[in-house]
Amino acid sequence: MALPRRRLKLVVTVMMVNLFIFIIISRQSSQDKNGRNKVQIPSKPFWSKVVPSAAYWNRKQQILDLQNNPILAANYSSADMPDWLNDTSLNSDPCQPNSRVTTQVKDYNSLPHRFKDFLLYMHCRSYPIIVDQPDICKQPPFLLLAVKSLAPHFDRRQAIRQSWGRAGVIANQTVVTIFLLGNATAGDHHPDLSEMLHYENARYKDIIKWDYRDSFFNLTVKEVLFLEWIQTRCPGARFIFKGDDDVFVNTYRILDFLKGLTEPKARDLFVGDVITNAGPHRDKKVKYFIPESMYVGTYPPYAGGGGYLYSGDIAARLHNVSQHVTLYPIDDVYTGMCLRKLGLAPEKHKGFRTFNIEEKYRSNPCAYKSLMLVHPRTPQEMIQIWAWLSSPSLNCQ
Ligand SMILES: *[C@@H]1O[C@H](CO)[C@@H](O)[C@H](O)[C@H]1NC(C)=O
Ligand SMILES: *[C@@H]1O[C@H](CO)[C@@H](O)[C@H](O)[C@H]1NC(C)=O
Ligand SMILES: *[C@@H]1O[C@H](CO)[C@@H](O)[C@H](O)[C@H]1NC(C)=O
Ligand SMILES: *[C@@H]1O[C@H](CO)[C@@H](O)[C@H](O)[C@H]1NC(C)=O
Ligand SMILES: *[C@@H]1O[C@H](CO)[C@@H](O)[C@H](O)[C@H]1NC(C)=O
Ligand SMILES: *[C@@H]1O[C@H](CO)[C@@H](O)[C@H](O)[C@H]1NC(C)=O
Repeated sequence: MALPRRRLKLVVTVMMVNLFIFIIISRQSSQDKNGRNKVQIPSKPFWSKVVPSAAYWNRKQQILDLQNNPILAANYSSADMPDWLNDTSLNSDPCQPNSRVTTQVKDYNSLPHRFKDFLLYMHCRSYPIIVDQPDICKQPPFLLLAVKSLAPHFDRRQAIRQSWGRAGVIANQTVVTIFLLGNATAGDHHPDLSEMLHYENARYKDIIKWDYRDSFFNLTVKEVLFLEWIQTRCPGARFIFKGDDDVFVNTYRILDFLKGLTEPKARDLFVGDVITNAGPHRDKKVKYFIPESMYVGTYPPYAGGGGYLYSGDIAARLHNVSQHVTLYPIDDVYTGMCLRKLGLAPEKHKGFRTFNIEEKYRSNPCAYKSLMLVHPRTPQEMIQIWAWLSSPSLNCQ
């Protein structure tokens, strides 16, 4: 009995040793196959040197990208920094007019005035707030409605207050409405309405106003100031709608839509009338014309500025990333650029009709029931459509 047991022990030991050797050999050969234990040294650099773009905006963005890239920035801080990257105008007060643009933009002198004004001040992102509502979000709202308006548009603001922007509790959710204004300046031939605006704000306490020139190309300034304002005055807002003062918004439908979102969907929400595969207009007569000396390339997907809806979480991320995106004169494109930098894209929702609905449906109350936004609508139309949607007798199949 003693002999077979010893033999068995021997057999088992030999088998174990064989198995061990087999494992070692097979591990080595698989490592060789995958080359995992060899250090791979690329023969050429796997990046390409940044070549300055001929367009001013692109060049400014390249500089920002380098400054915010920890690896490349280390290299470029060396003394032999190329001249085009050594823009001392960035170190001085960004809110002083930057006279270097007059030589840095090839055709500066032949550009329309609005471009010259934009270029001179495009590094300035902060202007003093002159009318604020510091406590408007004391109770963090479920939905913040932020309306881009212009001082003379009293009737539009009043119609919004009496219709879709009625603040308070709608469908069991808290809604806060504010109007975003800059300065309608005498330089742009605006009448002085400051007394009336003062009265309006004392009466409704829903105006936010900053001290900068309220012009089309400064709407991006309004956007970055608003992103800053949200973080300081209304960080608890669950969702934000931002839009123009000539749109109709179906607040009921929006609240209904928001309540139905799942948690991950709600956190990353950004919906609107999304425009894809667009680029700058090169026809001087178009309102959205952008010269080639200013921007080259296509636009990222962006939601038309008539109105879009996003989460408070996205607002915080947009606020951060906007510091790394050069101001662009078209505000909705700029927001698209910021989203792209976050690795996000706005989502198209067919309830946003920034290009209106078919004429034959415009006076049909039921046509508005499932929509979220229609552009454009007059103050009277806003009140009419809101009355239709608020009527208990509205019966749509
Ligand atoms: C870093 O600087 C060195 C020396 O100026 C240069 O040769 C090299 O190409 C630079 N690297 C990059 C990534 O530009
Ligand atoms: C950047 O330019 C300024 C003047 O334009 C010059 O005084 C400075 O030395 C330059 N800096 C570098 C790092 O080249
Ligand atoms: C509002 O909330 C109350 C109590 O939570 C509930 O009974 C009511 O059905 C809700 N109304 C709507 C429109 O959701
Ligand atoms: C804005 O308007 C006020 C008067 O209401 C004026 O004092 C101020 O200079 C204006 N600011 C700009 C940037 O035009
Ligand atoms: C934007 O606002 C600033 C500050 O009021 C002003 O100097 C600049 O001209 C404005 N830019 C445009 C394009 O109107
Ligand atoms: C924004 O940036 C600040 C400071 O770097 C950081 O603390 C915060 O977490 C960032 N917020 C978001 C939403 O990314």
